Amino acid sequence: MLDGRRVLLIISGGIAAYKSLELIRRLKDRGAAVRCILTKGGAQFVTPLSVAALSGDKVYQDTFSLTDEAEMGHIRLSREADLVVVAPATANLLAKMAAGIADDLASTALLATDKPVLVAPAMNTMMWDHVATQANVATLAGRGIHRVGPAAGDLACGEVGSGRMAEPAAILERIAELLGGGGPLAGVKAVVTSGPTFEAIDPVRYIANRSSGKQGHAIAAALAALGADVTLVSGPVALDDPAGLRTIHVESAVQMLNAVRGELPADVVVCAAAVADWTVANRAPHKRKKQAGAPPPVIELAPNPDILATVSKAAGLRPRLVVGFAAETERLLDNARDKLARKGCDWIIANDVSEDSGTFGGDANRIHLIDAEGIEDWPLLDKTEVAARLAARIATALGAE
Ligand code: CTP
Repeated sequence: MLDGRRVLLIISGGIAAYKSLELIRRLKDRGAAVRCILTKGGAQFVTPLSVAALSGDKVYQDTFSLTDEAEMGHIRLSREADLVVVAPATANLLAKMAAGIADDLASTALLATDKPVLVAPAMNTMMWDHVATQANVATLAGRGIHRVGPAAGDLACGEVGSGRMAEPAAILERIAELLGGGGPLAGVKAVVTSGPTFEAIDPVRYIANRSSGKQGHAIAAALAALGADVTLVSGPVALDDPAGLRTIHVESAVQMLNAVRGELPADVVVCAAAVADWTVANRAPHKRKKQAGAPPPVIELAPNPDILATVSKAAGLRPRLVVGFAAETERLLDNARDKLARKGCDWIIANDVSEDSGTFGGDANRIHLIDAEGIEDWPLLDKTEVAARLAARIATALGAE
């Protein structure tokens, strides 16, 4: 049952829009409150009147409609929902979401929302397979946007392939999962560190590690997708904050440690950040100036706290599961095993970051999961896929206790 849960359903232009009428009916049957935005394209396929009749509410159609804006701005519209569902999601709307374009009510509401978003793509198979669409879908997945479908089969355009919108029953199932507070990690508190840390040399310069944050952010999103209550503690990265979880932004290792400590107790902590091992002991309060003839300044380093080891050894506050990463350029498995013992965590995810591995900044990762029992070698996978598998493994491990 979805009693009292509020769904904002965005219907964009596709032949599959008729299935959204069925989705509204099923949602209402289960007690959900459904409010609908119908795009211009969507209104070519279903009428505002039928959407209004089924949802039992008025239909929102235009950002600049004075009455709509007066009664309910696009911001309230997107915030007063527990979940935003885009069904059908056209290639065009997915592209706008990925690019952050807000040129109509639907795309504006999607940009303004702070709620989880589920998309049900529907389009011609060539459009779905196009690299542009696939890149947009990957971008959205990295931001924690949930997706159901598309399915393969006969398409309305006469072609056969992937692109059919998921059936209303399948969409409803995902909605129930996302809204019901369900999911195998419901009630589990998770903390994930991600990205590099910056250690200031002076107000202008810093020392940092190489890290895009892609893997850590994807893990946070994957844990949230399974229903965990997730806090992501992120160093400076060029990524968006994933939807459906809380992100704390930090710069230095000490700030990262403090943020993680502030989130304990937690059930699981995943340390995916590339924390600088050293901080600058003689940090200058003002910009260091070059002086003609003077030798270059000497930067004195001091060790940073080890966040993974601190959490693993936190007396009374140790999470049930602590997962670390081992980024190695040589002797991968030996070094990783050594790290597992030295840092006291439960699992180490070992990955090869040597120059030709393509791991840094790339979208794929080949990892080995090491625990007290042994080693599991995973195939080369997209980082979002690694994250999904890891989240499922975490769910099994926590459930098995
Ligand atoms: N880590 C941490 N705090 C640190 C250093 C590392 O939490 N100050 C965590 C990382 O997030 C990662 C794991 O420890 O999960 C291993 O990081 P890595 O850089 O591979 O190991 P190091 O501790 O730096 O060991 P070494 O210098 O021997 O490679």
